[in-house]
Amino acid sequence: MKKMVLLALATLAVATMAIGGTQQGLSFPEDWRTYQHIGSLIITDKNHALHGIHHFYINKKGQDAFMKGEKYPDGTIIVDSVYEIEENGGILNEGRLAFFPVMKKNSRIKETGGWEWAAFSPDGKMLDKDPQKDCLSCHDAVKDADYVFSKPLK
Ligand code: HEC
Repeated sequence: MKKMVLLALATLAVATMAIGGTQQGLSFPEDWRTYQHIGSLIITDKNHALHGIHHFYINKKGQDAFMKGEKYPDGTIIVDSVYEIEENGGILNEGRLAFFPVMKKNSRIKETGGWEWAAFSPDGKMLDKDPQKDCLSCHDAVKDADYVFSKPLK
């Protein structure tokens, strides 16, 4: 009996860890280069926190919703690859890769709008970011578009 209780407790502990793991389980999407490019953004103001050239990519799961402007299905991943700007006589080009902000749809995580938010270094290590303060502070403005700013290009 004691053994069974212990076993039950151990199972519970593992299950709890698994749930916790999915909450912050956003790992770097290694295959982001196979995603569809949905837009770009250039912020030339050096004092801006997001200074750089941004390219946005969406995985297959979210492409339909993106095109139709619908709510995104769980598992949708959108990656922003941010490059430093190399300027040469009015020509702006991508310099060194700076970092990757990533959002992944997980409707169970209500407190951050049903998305997981993270940012990764160029070698795929998670940076210390607070989703509310560092991401939703801006993305809340497009809550009605399921927190996604980008729209299909005309
Ligand atoms: C200063 C405001 C601001 C902050 C802070 C911010 N973003 Fe964004 N983000 C934007 C804007 C604006 C766009 C869309 C630009 C465009 O339309 O070209 C964007 C685009 C994105 C995209 C592409 C999908 C979309 O919404 O168009 C991702 C992914 C993204 N951000 C992730 C993040 C993550 C993760 C964080 C936190 C680590 C973050 N962002 C913080 C303003 C912000």
